[in-house]
Amino acid sequence: MGKVFKATFWLAVLGLIGIQFVPVDRSNPPVTGEISPPDQVMEAFRGSCYDCHSNETQWPWYSRIAPVSWWIADHVRIGRNNLNFSEWESMTAEEQADAREEIWEEVERGSMPLRDYLRMHPEAVLTEPQRQALMRWSEGTAPEFPDWE
Ligand code: HEC
Repeated sequence: MGKVFKATFWLAVLGLIGIQFVPVDRSNPPVTGEISPPDQVMEAFRGSCYDCHSNETQWPWYSRIAPVSWWIADHVRIGRNNLNFSEWESMTAEEQADAREEIWEEVERGSMPLRDYLRMHPEAVLTEPQRQALMRWSEGTAPEFPDWE
């Protein structure tokens, strides 16, 4: 029993060391056509969405440690594929309109930012005025939102 346990333990340790060598894409490609909404909206995007929906991801230290790194890089890759504020200007008007509608839905439902992300980034929780601003912007009824602090 003791021997099996020891062997399993050392195999697990070796495994954990081994997976650190699997390459993980943590690149931030160039910003080619950034979105330029009113300031309040931009602040909310930057503060709550940019880590996964832009090419300006701030990779935290734990994004360097496998297997967490794989999971984070996946969120960023899939997030960017769905919606990338750094490449907004290269979308057609129709794609932008669809994206606005999806943003409205996600914000209305409260399903973005992802809950797992908020656990590590509590400051990224959208405030109620931020939610209102994002919804009004995505409906096209910006720019007259109330000021928020
Ligand atoms: C931790 C990474 C992360 C953050 C932060 C984040 N998202 Fe996402 N987002 C994703 C991923 C992953 C997907 C695709 C999978 C899914 O729908 O769950 C996605 C999908 C979306 C979609 C597309 C949904 C669809 O049906 O195609 C929209 C719109 C969106 N996010 C908006 C936002 C907005 C707005 C914010 C900020 C308020 C935000 N996201 C913050 C990771 C993130």
